[in-house]
Amino acid sequence: MGSNGENLDLQQQVEFLEQKLAQAQKMAALGELVSTTTHEFNNILMTIINYAKLGLRHKDNATREKAFEKIFAAGNRAARITNSVLGMARNRSASQEPLNLTQLVEDTLLLLEREMNKYRIAVDKQFQPIPEAVVNGGQIQQILLNLLINARQAMPNGGRLLLKLLHDREEEMIDLVVRDYGCGIPADKLPRIFDPYYTTKTGPDSSGRGGTGLGLSTCREIIESHRGRIRVDSAVGKGTAFTIKLPTVRHAALRHPPVAAPIVAPTTPATDQPGVVAGS
Ligand SMILES: Nc1ncnc2c1ncn2[C@@H]1O[C@H](COP(=O)(O)OP(=O)(O)OP(=O)(O)O)[C@@H](O)[C@H]1O
Ligand SMILES: [Mg+2]
Repeated sequence: MGSNGENLDLQQQVEFLEQKLAQAQKMAALGELVSTTTHEFNNILMTIINYAKLGLRHKDNATREKAFEKIFAAGNRAARITNSVLGMARNRSASQEPLNLTQLVEDTLLLLEREMNKYRIAVDKQFQPIPEAVVNGGQIQQILLNLLINARQAMPNGGRLLLKLLHDREEEMIDLVVRDYGCGIPADKLPRIFDPYYTTKTGPDSSGRGGTGLGLSTCREIIESHRGRIRVDSAVGKGTAFTIKLPTVRHAALRHPPVAAPIVAPTTPATDQPGVVAGS
């Protein structure tokens, strides 16, 4: 058999494995959303059941009123979650449309509110007024879920999580920053974090999260398909900042061509020097 035949065979195998990987990434993302939503619903149901019991046990008006208020609030929360998840499910196509990222970030935080409380993570939001971005909402939510859960896992004893949204007028991009003050990533590991299956987690944690190593590789692919960029700045013991840049409606209208290949350089998150950049 000639080497040409072998090459073709290898090429086919690579293509087959790439398809498998893409499929696995989609499943991992869907699994993440399903497990997050199910967890949240379970928590809400517990609240509703417990306050219903309280109301049944106590006949006085004050206690019953409080119970009804709690049940009402929990029911509303569940409805808000269902609406946003259904919205995302409806928009499962690959289409990119003008979208309000602030709302999307708020919806995603709502999904993780309990989880962040449980791990004593204080979420600090610094949202500037921003124009709409041209994105696939479901895909961007998937990125956010992974970045937020990664940040939470980097702070096992709790801590602060800073979320920023700003308008980069020069480039006509929206900057979304997810910054944690957790363990950080060693400089020699930084170039590997976007590799498929690269993980330092031993498996799912106490909340059933993490460990496939597909999170960031999927993030990178999604951002590339949006002609955006992702960069990371990290310092061991200080924390990590991921910055995502996504085109605004105006940018999309101007049809800027894609730019820049990945650059690799570790820094501290406190500075503005280049970190690891991925994207088109
Ligand atoms: N905020 C962060 N702080 C510290 N390390 C991080 C952070 N985000 C990512 N990492 C490192 O990068 C690795 C890869 O992250 P990625 O999200 O791709 O996979 P994972 O979180 O390990 O598993 P998965 O997301 O598939 O459940 C992590 O295992 C971790 O070592
Ligand atoms: Mg992850």
